[in-house]
Amino acid sequence: MSDPALEQLAEKLLAIIRKKPGERFEFEKLGKTLSCDIEQLRESARLLHDWRYRLKRHRKTITFVAPPDLLTDIEIKFGLKTKTIGRTLFCYHTVQSTNDIAAQKAEHGAPHGTVVVADQQTKGRGRLGRVWHSPPETGIYVSILLRPPFAPDKAPALSIMTAVALADTFGAYVPGEVQIKWPNDVWIGGKKAAGILTELSADKHKISHVVIGAGINVNQGVRQFPEELRPIATSLRRAVKRKVRRVDLLQAFLLNFEKEYAAYEKDGLRKSHAKIRRYSSLIGKQIGIRTGNTVVEGIAIDIDNEGRLIMDRDGTAVAITAGEVSVVKR
Ligand code: BTN
Repeated sequence: MSDPALEQLAEKLLAIIRKKPGERFEFEKLGKTLSCDIEQLRESARLLHDWRYRLKRHRKTITFVAPPDLLTDIEIKFGLKTKTIGRTLFCYHTVQSTNDIAAQKAEHGAPHGTVVVADQQTKGRGRLGRVWHSPPETGIYVSILLRPPFAPDKAPALSIMTAVALADTFGAYVPGEVQIKWPNDVWIGGKKAAGILTELSADKHKISHVVIGAGINVNQGVRQFPEELRPIATSLRRAVKRKVRRVDLLQAFLLNFEKEYAAYEKDGLRKSHAKIRRYSSLIGKQIGIRTGNTVVEGIAIDIDNEGRLIMDRDGTAVAITAGEVSVVKR
């Protein structure tokens, strides 16, 4: 049974001791600071231990060792540098789909910037009706709720904007190895490491809300991907060859997202255009775009400020808004 008063005390205790990892804090002094008795402090310490914080607990003292890599409210908020994105935050162990939860929160009036995170999804969705494999303790499944002031026709480019934020986030770990595959995939070393699913609720003229969902492969080993995905999927861990703290990665992503979104709201993709070109896995390549049963071929030459892929077809520039792209090998 959870005891809210004890949970509150545990959070206060944690806030004090985590500031100085390795230092012994005396229960007696802590008790005075937090206006509680030593037994209550010991119970709080037990609770922190249950929450998987690494602590050294002695009879009279407690020492903070390390936080867990769990996508909890306390951990994500600790050190989060954003102003709006993630300031309203919902964290879950298991959900069907964080995009669905974010849409429900939107219907109940959740504010712009609300973030929904889960450790595991049982019905994670990808684009084109695909499944997003979402096992626990390895990836990040996150949805960001936006209430943009702009018209619905500016919404599709939010996917590529998010891809830039993700690419910058990965780039801090594996500089030079990250690519964006238009319109919504982020690759590391030529394999997919993250996917983005943008879902819009709007009428003809006004956006009610947008949910941007990102599935981020952080610590999966090869075997944690289903066999059919192994040739095409990867994780950040496989590229950096060590485990990556998901909480740190998520905080960095949310901050990068906030910056990219602020620029996008003001100026569209103008500011990130050079970066998008640099990250693009398609520009300069002979590509094929499948829509239904037809494949149209040409050379990818740009991604414009509306997030459309510009393709050269026999000397004519054609703007593509959606579709499955593949590089044509000759
Ligand atoms: C794709 O590459 O097809 C997009 C994958 C998007 C997956 C994320 S995981 C968080 C959010 N919740 C979902 O059900 N889907 C998105």
